[in-house]
Amino acid sequence: MMVASERYFVRRSQIQDIPEIIEICSAVYPESPTWTPEQLTSHQRVFPDGQLVAVSNDSKKIVGVSSSLIVFWDDYEWDTPWRDFTDHGMFTNHNPTTGKTLYGAEIMVDPKCQRAGIGRLIYKAREDLVRKLGLLRIRAGARLRGYHAYASKMTPDEYVLEVVKGKLNDPTLSFQLKRKFHVLRVVSNYLRHDPESMGFAAVIEWINPDVATEADYAHLRESKFYRD
Ligand SMILES: CC(C)(COP(=O)(O)OP(=O)(O)OC[C@H]1O[C@@H](n2cnc3c(N)ncnc32)[C@H](O)[C@@H]1OP(=O)(O)O)[C@@H](O)C(=O)NCCC(=O)NCCS
Repeated sequence: MMVASERYFVRRSQIQDIPEIIEICSAVYPESPTWTPEQLTSHQRVFPDGQLVAVSNDSKKIVGVSSSLIVFWDDYEWDTPWRDFTDHGMFTNHNPTTGKTLYGAEIMVDPKCQRAGIGRLIYKAREDLVRKLGLLRIRAGARLRGYHAYASKMTPDEYVLEVVKGKLNDPTLSFQLKRKFHVLRVVSNYLRHDPESMGFAAVIEWINPDVATEADYAHLRESKFYRD
């Protein structure tokens, strides 16, 4: 699998990338603990295809990271927190036997390189992976990074509706919506230590049109957040 633009390309991550991945993690989330080498090694062991990095052609440095696993959705509740979807960050719940859902556990781009199309490239690689594996969809929790600034004025649901309508911009969700994701619902207590989102996240979905039937779109169209 290879997705590339003029300046960047996406490939599977390798053991030797781990220090650089951790560096990006501390730059993106300076207040939070970073991924540990044990967790990152575990991801590469249980699902190597799901661990991607974007690399700069010029510097050969890693500029973006994506971590995914396959889950059997019915094993979880809508409001299952991130730590349970990822088995405390180890991905040992990866279930390629019955799972049809690629769960996006992480996507981050080096703050020095954001808004240069790297996130878009990584998502293209994720979609290609879902198509290659014949999975039904990608789901993820988009933490509502901008919500704290509106928390005194509106509920998380109202905030998400405004973002979906394009009236408010959320640094994470607006990006995901541009990647053709749809919001299924809003959940609380998704992340423990995230003052920006205050723990709120939008459960988002992208459906693989190669394998989906009409019925697979039904719940999405029924969501009050759905926009054609
Ligand atoms: C979210 C993130 C991965 C986006 O990556 P990126 O490389 O900056 O995104 P891109 O440059 O590929 O942008 C893709 C599109 O999203 C839009 N976009 C990106 N960041 C945006 C923002 N903050 N607000 C609104 N739109 C945004 C771009 O305008 C672009 O639109 P286009 O497709 O019409 O050109 C990156 O900002 C990031 O690492 N954020 C911190 C970590 C994070 O929140 N991850 C998600 C956790 S749920």
